[in-house]
Amino acid sequence: EEIKLFCPATIANVSCGFDVLGLCLEQPGDEMIIRKSKTPGIQITKIVGQDLPLETEKNVAGVAGLALLNDLKELKAGFEIEIYKKIKPGSGIGSSAASAAGAVFGINQLLDEPFSAKELIPFAMQGELLASGALHADNVAPALLGGFTLVRSYDPLDVIKLPVPEQLIGTVIHPQLEVKTADARSVLKHSVSLKNAITQWGNLAGLISALYTSDYELLARCLHDEIVEPLRSVLIPGFNEVKATALKNGALGSGISGSGPSIFALSKDEATANQIAAAMAEVYRKFEVAYDIHVSKI
Ligand code: HSE
Repeated sequence: EEIKLFCPATIANVSCGFDVLGLCLEQPGDEMIIRKSKTPGIQITKIVGQDLPLETEKNVAGVAGLALLNDLKELKAGFEIEIYKKIKPGSGIGSSAASAAGAVFGINQLLDEPFSAKELIPFAMQGELLASGALHADNVAPALLGGFTLVRSYDPLDVIKLPVPEQLIGTVIHPQLEVKTADARSVLKHSVSLKNAITQWGNLAGLISALYTSDYELLARCLHDEIVEPLRSVLIPGFNEVKATALKNGALGSGISGSGPSIFALSKDEATANQIAAAMAEVYRKFEVAYDIHVSKI
């Protein structure tokens, strides 16, 4: 008995929602095959496309899957996982989350769904903890639930699925360098000014309202981040120019995707999203930086 999965890329933070907001892209994504096995536990039998550890305890899919099995006390259950990695680790579009979410989703299916999609989030977060040293859910939640998600609270975990305005489309450019989430978190400050906090929660609340009302102009006014982006953008070559180019070409907003180095833009139609993609790519061609680019519905 086996299951074949598509494990989508995700954009965490979405400017004003550091560690709480995330969205799921329709592409790119990994593929994963999970099959029941007679050997108890989890075996990662194959990883194609990236050089990642096969050892269960060192692999985000393995760790997330084990967290699920331990909770169920299904000590005899066993699974083999094959991962066909298309999302590059360290790209900022939820590579580890795709693997962690895929593993728990697939295993849950093969066990006839003892858990709801929301209940799978804490298991997938164990994979994120291994990958980045932080128990953040803003990639695994949208990967498991689809669309936009909000982590209203981490303790207790309270995740809310949000509506997606119909025309919204994302553009993501990945300059070919790797920024580890742990490194991108170590540059952050641990306190914020009241002034910046007011701006940020105003924008986050406005963005949530914009999603419910499909108010694209409000959405555009809210896509700002004065707390994390200024500290992290220095790690990304050409960030300011790529962002300015996206805005000049009609983006509703643009910012760092997750912990970077990918840069995302949101727009209202496919033609604009493609135009933004071409303009962003032109910036990196000028700087002679290699890149991957994706245009995707949310
Ligand atoms: N919220 C996390 C961070 C996402 O920005 O560090 C990492 O993908």
